[in-house]
Amino acid sequence: MKKVGILTSGGDCQGLNAAIRSVAKALYREFGKDISIYGIKNGYTGLIDGDYSLMEERDFSGILTLGGTILGTSRQPFKQIRKFDGNPVDKVERMKMNYKKLGLDCLFVLGGNGTHKTANLLSEEGLNVITLPKTIDNDIWGTDMTFGFYSAVDIASDVLDRIHTTATSHSRVFIVEIMGHKAGWLTLYAGMASGSDIILIPEIPYNIDSVVAEIERREKTGKRFSILAVAEGAVSADEAKLEKKEFKKLRQQMKYPSVSYRIADEIGKKTGNEVRVTVPGHFQRGGSPCPYDRILATRFGAAAAALFREKKYGNMVALRDNEVVAVPLCEVAGKLKRVPADCEQIEAARNIGVNLGD
Ligand code: F6P
Repeated sequence: MKKVGILTSGGDCQGLNAAIRSVAKALYREFGKDISIYGIKNGYTGLIDGDYSLMEERDFSGILTLGGTILGTSRQPFKQIRKFDGNPVDKVERMKMNYKKLGLDCLFVLGGNGTHKTANLLSEEGLNVITLPKTIDNDIWGTDMTFGFYSAVDIASDVLDRIHTTATSHSRVFIVEIMGHKAGWLTLYAGMASGSDIILIPEIPYNIDSVVAEIERREKTGKRFSILAVAEGAVSADEAKLEKKEFKKLRQQMKYPSVSYRIADEIGKKTGNEVRVTVPGHFQRGGSPCPYDRILATRFGAAAAALFREKKYGNMVALRDNEVVAVPLCEVAGKLKRVPADCEQIEAARNIGVNLGD
């Protein structure tokens, strides 16, 4: 009899249930009654606290299109994973103890960047771990694509499309703030998909004068509205020069709820335009996965189950050149896949006249 655990950790996204279902279906198909799957509740928290339950085959049916995660999730910051939390046994040791108590042969972990650091640590500590990359940010190193990303692109693009029609009616400047603190993939793709005029991403610090000049240039050609897709992690060129501590301090002092409101204020003052800000926020992570994500999650799930069959632990399933491959966790952990400032997508945007704020 084989025993495995499965957990989802970090911010949720579309396609988590599709991936859980796929891992389970492939395992049941391979091992039949000789496999027990334990659902670990609320991410690593469930493994730390021993909160899990034995799942049945029927638990994995009817969830392909369901948003969120049937297992629940939580954030367990990697920085604090070894920190004393009042319990004499540290969290990593508690996870190891529960893994052993359950007699697991492998732990399947579905998560983003932080999750992968902990997964790698658990692997280094001797647990058999196989991971699946998920996040709307598409910023996991080692994979061309994460599931969740294209569903969020759909939603963010839809918001921008809808803003477009009201912006044209009212001749206003509109900013749509898109999720992504460190990586601008979602903003770039949604911005391009919706024909945004200005796209500001964390990787390319913006100069407000360039943004204003573009709005004014558009006005001179008779276009009395402008649409800005702005990543929540967008930074100005001045801010980009600051040390991390100074930057944090400056942002804490900022009177605006987020960077988009500051940009709106600056544009309003410099151009006299009416500027509106829309923040779709967690809408971008909600609801049913798009077909692309269902397929990617299913491919990843089946590949993860195959790695288990082959005892290839310590790996993340990944998409490279449209092939699903295994990438060692030690290569993935601690790295971030940001938008290269000279990548082809950025070049394409520039070549059709999109202003990137620089
Ligand atoms: O999971 C990724 C993400 O959605 C980021 O795009 C966003 O910055 C962050 O999570 C929001 O986190 P939380 O759900 O904890 O507010």
